[in-house]
Amino acid sequence: MTDAPRKRTLYRHPLAAVGGALFSAGVFLFLILLVYDLTGPDENPYRSLVTFVIAPFVITVGFLLFLLAIWIQVRSARKRGESVRFNLSIDPTDPHYMRNLWLFLGLSAVLIFLVIYSGTEAYEATDSVAFCGETCHTVMEPQNVTYHNSAHAKVSCVDCHIGPGASFYVKSKFDGIRQLFATTLNTYSRPIETPVENLRPAQETCEECHWPRQFYGEKMVTHTYYRTDEANSPWTIKLLVKIGGGNPRTGILEGIHWHMIGSNTIYYVAADEKRQDIIWLRLVSADGDTVVYQDPDAEPPDFGDPETEVRRFDCMDCHNRPSHSFLPPAKGLNLALSTRQISPELSYIRQVGLDLLNAEYQDRREANEAISVGLTEYYQENYPDLVNDNGSDIDQATKVLLKVYNENFFPEMKTDYRVRENNLSHFVNDGCFRCHDGVMSSDKGEVLSNDCATCHLIVSQGPSENVSELESDLGGLDFKHPEDIDEVWREFKCTECHTPESGY
Ligand code: HEC
Ligand code: HEC
Ligand code: HEC
Ligand code: HEC
Ligand code: HEC
Ligand code: HEC
Repeated sequence: MTDAPRKRTLYRHPLAAVGGALFSAGVFLFLILLVYDLTGPDENPYRSLVTFVIAPFVITVGFLLFLLAIWIQVRSARKRGESVRFNLSIDPTDPHYMRNLWLFLGLSAVLIFLVIYSGTEAYEATDSVAFCGETCHTVMEPQNVTYHNSAHAKVSCVDCHIGPGASFYVKSKFDGIRQLFATTLNTYSRPIETPVENLRPAQETCEECHWPRQFYGEKMVTHTYYRTDEANSPWTIKLLVKIGGGNPRTGILEGIHWHMIGSNTIYYVAADEKRQDIIWLRLVSADGDTVVYQDPDAEPPDFGDPETEVRRFDCMDCHNRPSHSFLPPAKGLNLALSTRQISPELSYIRQVGLDLLNAEYQDRREANEAISVGLTEYYQENYPDLVNDNGSDIDQATKVLLKVYNENFFPEMKTDYRVRENNLSHFVNDGCFRCHDGVMSSDKGEVLSNDCATCHLIVSQGPSENVSELESDLGGLDFKHPEDIDEVWREFKCTECHTPESGY
């Protein structure tokens, strides 16, 4: 008998069978998911996690096991002094080979079944909102909670954040993977940075549902405020907001929505990352005229610097919180008082509640504890009679304060109204007054109007919750500031006195 080298096949070792099975199952998973991904009804950046991270991981592990099996075989053969040559042919006469081939086929069948089942199940589970909002629980909690309290609670995250078409879809896949690593490695920023860079332009998201030339006309808005005095005195202002828009039947463009409809286009430059300090803008109006406005007190922008972002003004420059609006505590309290969720009979509740909500807390537990204890102690010390007669009002107020806190403050993510400016008004943040501040002026000396009646008419105002008791005029009233501050409000922006620290 000669020492002819023994015939070898790749599948002599059980590990090779396991590795091979994993490898083929991984490839199978990837292909199925890819097809699902490309034809699926909606798109989701996190789905790519399964397709582009988990499937390749399984493939790699399978491949490595397979290599390991070969290495083990080569090593033990060398030890026995055999020369090593692999043979790719099937060897039905070798019982080892046959055993492992069956192992391979059996395992593959089981794995592929599991893959089809769990893969498609996982895909269903990653379906938009729940997955986007809840998977990375702490990270997305602020946006998820506020989203569920917004007008867009039935619009899925991906409709605004990704939109239709392939290119943003692919971008979001890669971004989703980056976010996954940031979450796993705990390197994400707190709060999450905003404005979102590379957010898809509104023309391709918002305008898929809201036709910009749609005519919204005028809208009546009623705000009821409560003062910081002992009686929590009410003050009501009713505004007729001139939303306007384009009217396709008449061709007229007017009102607040005039900025970006028809061929009106505005480009602007802000001095800060949050786009709060606007220093320059160029208006190209429908008739082709171009006017540049500038803040006379600021350095003109340096257009040579690549860091200078010239942004086209769109829906999100006003509606920057369409689904993640973090209520300022004064607003939350005013709402709770006007709907009697909190009793205005509780002396100073507007002031005390606000101080408790506004304080700095490490985490939610500490905050909830401090708010409950703080409110009870305040009334025990200052109004013991109230505790005896209206104890249940105090308990109820505590519950509502906690609700306002928990829906709008996220200490773990350092996220609340103080880092989430809302540009739709000019009372808490500068919003419209970033441009309409009565200072921005053109080279011809025209000043951007901040006349109160440009944007809304004040139709009722005064110290009551009951509009029928107030002075009213649909033609518009002169603004009367609730606290006597002369005409200072004509010269100063509202936000110069109405700050988070002042609490009103
Ligand atoms: C109606 C459109 C819309 C929907 C629906 C929506 N978002 Fe947003 N989202 C926005 C806009 C607009 C911004 C902020 C843009 C800016 O200021 O740059 C934003 C910002 C964010 C941010 C950045 C942090 C911040 O507060 O600015 C996160 C995170 C986020 N959204 C997650 C989600 C999640 C999760 C969902 C679904 C549960 C969702 N969004 C649904 C429009 C939307
Ligand atoms: C998938 C469709 C869809 C998309 C995309 C969408 N919206 Fe909406 N939007 C709605 C629906 C539905 C409502 C609720 C209408 C109602 O209940 O009256 C709504 C309501 C609104 C309102 C009025 C409610 C309020 O908050 O006062 C505003 C403003 C608004 N959307 C702005 C936006 C902006 C800005 C974007 C882009 C960031 C956007 N929408 C994207 C469907 C959409
Ligand atoms: C110059 C700022 C500004 C821009 C730009 C802007 N809006 Fe508005 N929009 C407003 C204001 C202010 C209101 C009134 C909000 C209120 O009082 O509740 C409003 C109201 C709305 C409403 C609600 C109408 C209603 O009856 O409640 C929708 C929907 C809306 N805008 C969609 C859009 C869309 C879509 C775009 C982009 C094509 C856009 N807006 C661009 C300022 C703006
Ligand atoms: C980026 C700067 C900028 C911001 C921010 C801005 N505007 Fe304007 N707005 C302009 C410019 C520029 C004009 C044109 C002024 C002119 O031609 O007289 C204008 C004009 C208007 C007009 C008059 C439209 C007409 O019928 O002629 C209204 C109303 C208006 N803005 C409301 C608002 C409201 C409300 C907000 C905040 C929600 C706002 N603007 C935010 C730049 C801005
Ligand atoms: C460039 C447009 C614009 C100008 C100019 C303007 N406002 Fe407003 N104002 C708005 C918008 C938009 C809102 C938000 C409407 C809403 O509450 O739905 C608002 C809201 C308000 C509110 C309610 C604030 C809140 O959130 O509780 C008051 C009060 C008010 N304006 C008073 C004034 C007075 C007084 C002036 C004149 C000094 C003025 N506004 C000038 C656009 C404007
Ligand atoms: C010079 C500082 C100053 C300026 C500027 C100012 N306010 Fe006030 N405002 C006050 C003070 C002080 C109060 C009284 C707070 C309290 O004790 O209730 C007040 C109260 C109010 C209230 C009653 C509700 C509340 O929270 O107390 C409203 C509404 C209001 N201001 C609107 C405005 C608007 C709108 C502007 C801009 C057009 C403005 N204010 C500008 C100082 C100012």
